Amino acid sequence: MDTGLKGRVVLVTGATTGIGAATARAYGREGARVAITYRNNAEKAEKVAAEVEAEGGQAFVVRLDLEDLSSIGEAAATVVERWGGIDVLVANAVRWGGDGPPDPGVRFEDVPLEEWQAMINANLVGAVASVRAVLPGMRAKGWGRIVLISSGVAEEGLPGPGPYGTAKSGLYGLARSLAWEGGRDGILVNVVAPGFTLTDNRPDIPEFVVSALASATPTRRLSDSDDVARIVVFLGSAANGNLTGELIRDGSSAARAPHIGG
Ligand SMILES: NC(=O)c1ccc[n+]([C@@H]2O[C@H](COP(=O)([O-])OP(=O)(O)OC[C@H]3O[C@@H](n4cnc5c(N)ncnc54)[C@H](OP(=O)(O)O)[C@@H]3O)[C@@H](O)[C@H]2O)c1
Repeated sequence: MDTGLKGRVVLVTGATTGIGAATARAYGREGARVAITYRNNAEKAEKVAAEVEAEGGQAFVVRLDLEDLSSIGEAAATVVERWGGIDVLVANAVRWGGDGPPDPGVRFEDVPLEEWQAMINANLVGAVASVRAVLPGMRAKGWGRIVLISSGVAEEGLPGPGPYGTAKSGLYGLARSLAWEGGRDGILVNVVAPGFTLTDNRPDIPEFVVSALASATPTRRLSDSDDVARIVVFLGSAANGNLTGELIRDGSSAARAPHIGG
């Protein structure tokens, strides 16, 4: 299948590790020019950039912070200045809050409103800001692909991660409206909602947890970052000719991880 990605400019936010890094590498394999964003880990971003280039793409690294909305437009402008436009946006960056995925042990009423605002602002408004930064250029070209990375938690919920799941479910509403807005200009937008994913960023999950979760899925296995990346690359490519406004779940999404989150 021809993805038509050779030379296309792809912005993957939050691509230092996990699904974002795997997605950047997968676009590299298609010969794309990939802009990789980081927030804290510039070195890891540079490493992913080198991997993208080793795979046959081109890459460069730019900082983007979902908690500083102006940095999103600035990052996009840097990409446009360098490569002349942005054809594909993968809005993958996430503010987990705390040190990692949301803690299911926290009671709903104990989450301060300020944390709700911070999560919605970063994970939902941050995605909106990312879309706003790329949309005019895509409209001008009459072509664009946008992939918003949500989570199985958006549909299924989990005890604890209310703000995270609420922000992630907002991405679906965003995609439904944007599909109508962008469709007439050749812009397709979709949501990927991964379930529990085995990433390089959390390698220490005990084997008994992995197999318990895997046994609850139709395929009896959890997705890894590359599984999700392949879905993203299809949606965010010319191989996707007319699929828009949809939410795609992967095989992991039937697994429940109330004690880990994600
Ligand atoms: N892993 C899962 O099981 C799972 C399941 C469902 C959905 N998801 C979704 O998939 C996406 C990727 O998850 P992952 O597990 O692969 O993530 P991850 O490995 O934890 O990577 C998160 C990325 O986001 C960046 N980031 C962190 N805080 C940021 C901020 N405030 N502003 C901008 N960037 C920030 C990080 O950059 P630095 O390293 O530079 O800080 C990193 O590149 C997320 O949207 C997540 O919600 C993941």
